Amino acid sequence: MKKLLITGAKGQVGQELTQQANFHSFKPIPLSRADLDISDYDQVDQTVNDIKPDIIINAAAFTNVDLAETKQEQALACNKEGPDNLAVTAAKLNIPLFHISTDFIFDGEKNTPYIEDDDPNPLSFYGESKLLGEEAVWTVWDKHIILRVSWVFGQYGHNFFSGVADWAKNKKELQIVSDQVGGPTPANAVAETLLVLAAKSIEQNNSFYWGTYHYSGLPAVSRFEYTQFIVSELKKMGVENLANLVPVPASHYPMPAQRPAYSALDSGLLERNFGIKAPDWQEGARELIKIK
Ligand SMILES: NC(=O)c1ccc[n+]([C@@H]2O[C@H](COP(=O)([O-])OP(=O)(O)OC[C@H]3O[C@@H](n4cnc5c(N)ncnc54)[C@H](OP(=O)(O)O)[C@@H]3O)[C@@H](O)[C@H]2O)c1
Repeated sequence: MKKLLITGAKGQVGQELTQQANFHSFKPIPLSRADLDISDYDQVDQTVNDIKPDIIINAAAFTNVDLAETKQEQALACNKEGPDNLAVTAAKLNIPLFHISTDFIFDGEKNTPYIEDDDPNPLSFYGESKLLGEEAVWTVWDKHIILRVSWVFGQYGHNFFSGVADWAKNKKELQIVSDQVGGPTPANAVAETLLVLAAKSIEQNNSFYWGTYHYSGLPAVSRFEYTQFIVSELKKMGVENLANLVPVPASHYPMPAQRPAYSALDSGLLERNFGIKAPDWQEGARELIKIK
C-alpha cells in the first residue's frame, strides 16, 4: 500500500481523509498539530524524511477567519510558511503534494461561479494568508494539486452547519445573513476527491494534470437559504420548536473579517480533467442530520 502522510489530521477534512484512505488503497499516516507543526521547517523536513510517504495531503490550516485578522503572524506561519515548508521538502524528495485552499481568496464581486483563472483579491487576512500559501506551493513544486473548496461542513469539528443546527434547536429566533452566497461542501466529499486524485496521480504518473482546481457544492445558496434547508430537514426528522428564521444583511453583523458576498466556485475543470462532479451538498447535509 502507498503511504499517505496527512497533516492537520485532527481537523474536519483531516479526519475524513484518515477514515477513507484505506478505501482508496492508501495507508494513512495521520499527523495532528501535536505530531507535526507544519510551520516549523526542520520538523517538516525531519518527519517527511523519516516517513518517506508516497503522497502528502496538507489538511492543516489556521481556519479561524476572524481571529486571523489579529493573529496575523500565526495565520501566516500555518497558511503560508506551512505549505512552503511542505512544498520545499516534497520537491527535494520528489513527493506529490496535495494542498487545500479556499473561496475566500476571491473578493465576491462576481455573480457567476469563480473559475480557476479568475483573479484572486482576498478581502480578509485569512484569504490573504491562504493565497500566499498557494503561491508558495505553485512556485516551489510542480507536482501539486491545490484544491480550492468552500463552506466546508461535516461531522467533525465546528462549522456553520453544526452551529446553525444547534442554535435552531435552542433559540427562538435566528437572524441569518442573506446577502452572502456560496457552495456548502461536505468534508467527506472533499476528502474523497483528494484521495481519488491522489490515486489517479500514481496511476497516471507523467500524464497527470497537476495544478489548481475548484470543488464546491451545488446548488449555490445564501447563508439564509442554507439555514432554511437545515431547519426544514430537522423538521422532517421530527425535531420540534425550531427557531424562527429572519434574513438580515451582512452589515447587520459587523465581523472582524470581511467575507465575499459571492464565492461559489465552478468545479467544471475538475469534471473535464478527471470526471469528478461537484457534490450535491443537500444530500450530504441530509446524511449528516441523520447521524447527528
Ligand atoms: N472550514 C471551511 O469552511 C473551509 C472553507 C474553505 C477552505 N477550507 C480549507 O480546507 C482545509 C481544511 O479545513 P478544515 O475545515 O478541515 O479545518 P480545521 O477543522 O480547522 O482543521 C485544521 C487543522 O489544522 C491544524 N493546525 C493548525 N495549525 C497547524 C500547524 N501549524 N501545524 C499543523 N497543524 C495545524 C488544526 O489543529 P488545532 O485545532 O490544534 O489548531 C486543525 O486540526 C484548510 O486548508 C482550510 O483552509 C476550509
